[in-house]
Amino acid sequence: RRVVVLISGNGSNLQALIDEQTHDRLGGEIVAVISNVADAYGLQRARDAGIDAVVLPHGEYDSREAYDGALIKVIERHEPDLVVLAGFMRILSSRFVQRFHGRMLNIHPSLLPAYRGLNTHAKALADGVAEHGCSVHFVTEELDGGPVAIQAVVNVSGDETETSLKEKVHTREHLIYPIAVKWFLEGRLRLVGETAVLDGTPL
Ligand code: GRF
Repeated sequence: RRVVVLISGNGSNLQALIDEQTHDRLGGEIVAVISNVADAYGLQRARDAGIDAVVLPHGEYDSREAYDGALIKVIERHEPDLVVLAGFMRILSSRFVQRFHGRMLNIHPSLLPAYRGLNTHAKALADGVAEHGCSVHFVTEELDGGPVAIQAVVNVSGDETETSLKEKVHTREHLIYPIAVKWFLEGRLRLVGETAVLDGTPL
């Protein structure tokens, strides 16, 4: 089973997936890492692991549709079973989303459906919530709105800062993303209609 990972930055979630692969626990192979940002550190993580690292800068395209068309071509060259968004900071066109429908996952730093979009940790702190966390979901046309496959919860302590909360959530991201990817690659996790299904049970 073949996996293509899309990144824009540090790539710590990518690293968590690479680490599983290194231990033969991913259930598939990351065949390429693609970044829209040329100096994304995640590209180096890919190279260090002997994975094909591709840069496709969005600045060179006139429109989202043009960029996404080029991105589809690069991705499909690698014939993935699964596309993994790991800190890929771009809104995706509907053509792109439809192309990989049911075989594209994203990780989002909130307990969806709470706090879609950016600055999730600041929003959670401002609201004074007792629990925050992260979610892996199938990507649909609704931004951060697709069916959730797995979530991890963290407690928000009294002296929590945005930085400490972000760090806490990040460590959980690194735990749950490999689990979801593994489930998918083993054929246990599927999108059926608009519902994520694990081992035949709707989530
Ligand atoms: C993570 O917080 C993830 O939830 C969000 O982007 C960030 C990526 O972090 N989608 P990293 O590049 O994997 O370290």
